[in-house]
Amino acid sequence: MTKTILLTGGTGFIGSHTAVEMIQEGYRIVLADDLSNSSRKVVDRIEEITGTRPAFYPIDVADREALRDLFSRERLDGVIHFAGFKAVGESTEKPLDYYENNLGATMNLLRVMEEFGVKTIVFSSSATVYGQGGLMPCTETMPRGVCVNPYGWTKSMSEQILTDASAADPDLSVVLLRYFNPIGAHPSGLIGEDPQGIPNNLMPFVAQVAVGRREELTIFGNDYDTPDGTCRRDYIHVCDLAEGHVKAIAFGEGRKGVEVFNLGTGTPYSVLEVVETFARVSGVSVPWRFGPRRAGDLPDLWADPAKATEVLGWKAGRTLEDMCRDAWNWQRNNPRGYEGEE
Ligand code: WQD
Repeated sequence: MTKTILLTGGTGFIGSHTAVEMIQEGYRIVLADDLSNSSRKVVDRIEEITGTRPAFYPIDVADREALRDLFSRERLDGVIHFAGFKAVGESTEKPLDYYENNLGATMNLLRVMEEFGVKTIVFSSSATVYGQGGLMPCTETMPRGVCVNPYGWTKSMSEQILTDASAADPDLSVVLLRYFNPIGAHPSGLIGEDPQGIPNNLMPFVAQVAVGRREELTIFGNDYDTPDGTCRRDYIHVCDLAEGHVKAIAFGEGRKGVEVFNLGTGTPYSVLEVVETFARVSGVSVPWRFGPRRAGDLPDLWADPAKATEVLGWKAGRTLEDMCRDAWNWQRNNPRGYEGEE
């Protein structure tokens, strides 16, 4: 029987790619998103790629009545919870907005799930919950650390809320997915990352420089204790990440308790390696210069993804070249993002 899964934040970068993978795996998908950081056009694009139009509710997940209404119309088998504010810098300026929105959404969702007897949730967490410990690679057995910004704390606290809720409800199944650095786009070039304003993250910035929207990239720091002096991260193709969610929801269904998985490749690349690879696969020059370090950046951050391979049977298969090629394909086809078309 077809299973129906709700994706909160379903029109966002990771949500939209996960929707495509889930539909292609035979799930029925319901998207909820207040469109505060995404476009309604994503729903059309998902339909264009898959041939199936997902149900879409333009609601705020923190709105109890709106969420109840959704749950009463749809018979849900599980939820993947992506919805949340995610700009690290902004979270330090507006911490209360971040705590209220991100924690409010998680708690509201758990309340409504309880009311309607929905027992499976996969949560969009982040490697940021490991804090500043510095031991690499990160394994799931390490304790969560001290986060350096409110955004990170909302992920860490949401993990705690979900863990406590699961301890109190023996029928609840919680899967916490800790993403490393998701980049790239669907190879169709129809969906991808579309940040509002000046991008905070490396890949969208590089892609916007390549397409001529920004003059040059500033590389934050070249004096780190790493092979080329720039920071290293575990970049993962968003389609590999999306496939991880398909495995996670299947794993979570019908079990009880909490399980945590890193989703990364296990191989770190430096900022310089990313920029050089992007320029090579796109054939476009990406002007850059070195600037000062950015506050809060760790020199190195990468995953031990062995647990996800052993338990979920999942492995990230796409290369850095694939990630850069697909990010460029998206950017080139949509130079100003979703709203730039027509
Ligand atoms: C990667 C590297 C920068 C921009 C953050 C969050 C994390 C997660 C993903 C999001 C770093 C360097 C970047 C630029 C640069 N959350 N850089 N110039 O910081 O690893 O992770 O995003 O939802 O929680 O912390 O990713 O892409 O910002 O940076 O040199 O203009 O690129 O210093 O070394 P980060 P990032």
